[in-house]
Amino acid sequence: MHGPTEGVSEETDEANSAVKIVGGNVFVELDPDHPGFKDEGYRSRRNEIAKIAMEWNDMSMEERRNTKIPHAPYSEDEDAVWAAIMERIAPVHENYACKQYLDNAKKLGLPNDRIPQLQEVSETLQHMTGFRQEPVGGLVHPKTFHTALANKVFLSTQYIRHSSRPFYTPEPDVVHELVGHTAMLGVPEWAELNILFGEADMRTKSEAAITRLGSIYWYVLEFGACREKGIIKSVGPGLLSSFGEMEHACTGGEGCGNNEACVCDPKIQYLTPNFEEMETRPYDVTKYQPVLYVWDSFEEMYENTKDFITKWGTEKDPRKEVHQ
Ligand SMILES: [Fe+2]
Repeated sequence: MHGPTEGVSEETDEANSAVKIVGGNVFVELDPDHPGFKDEGYRSRRNEIAKIAMEWNDMSMEERRNTKIPHAPYSEDEDAVWAAIMERIAPVHENYACKQYLDNAKKLGLPNDRIPQLQEVSETLQHMTGFRQEPVGGLVHPKTFHTALANKVFLSTQYIRHSSRPFYTPEPDVVHELVGHTAMLGVPEWAELNILFGEADMRTKSEAAITRLGSIYWYVLEFGACREKGIIKSVGPGLLSSFGEMEHACTGGEGCGNNEACVCDPKIQYLTPNFEEMETRPYDVTKYQPVLYVWDSFEEMYENTKDFITKWGTEKDPRKEVHQ
């Protein structure tokens, strides 16, 4: 996950969390609007999970490669949240996920009845494309997120949304990371694009250019869509991890008519991909995306994005002055 431009689930709002250290203990500060704010058990699991990420962060890269990610504690209620989401999202994937996602989700074989541990999912992913998923406590600076990508590491949260609202999360959680991102990171072309983004970021110095790059990542690698035989399919994990947003995205906004989170006016706007435009187009992380860039095919998305991002900030980049 990367922030502040990260993570949409069934609905989102601006509630969030922050990891703090108080008296030597790791403590996750939840916004009073957070559904888990008053649940002591949930909060203590969140603290334990944040501690895993913090200790992981203190390790060298060498140590991380040789250490198994500690198991996150999940309650029965939380496994039930996962199961409910998996049941609800499966038919939506069948209709609206791109072929690459469906093929890889089968290979990945996430369990339906319990939240899988990051370690086990990461091991399977590593066999697919060499990518690993490693724990992170919460939102990180885009530079940190992208630098990890260059090293084939995808930083992922381990906590899950609160069980009182199974289809709502105010922050990107383990559902977003594992249901949305992992299967796509198992697609060689997608993994390659993630690495190229990481390398482009490492060539980028100014905060303004990093923001531009983050915006491209958002519109292509979080919320991209492509056509398959003329039908719009979800490619981006931001769509693939949320049945509500996936339906919304692929039906022009029609599929979310009864959903309070829908603020499209009145329908979603599909645009022809244009990188220069994406770089500065603002987006709202708290709502279903009202604008999507739709590629004619997955292959077109891959070829064009690869070409653009490989040149980013280099002598071959016609707009290198704003990309450095
Ligand atoms: Fe994401």
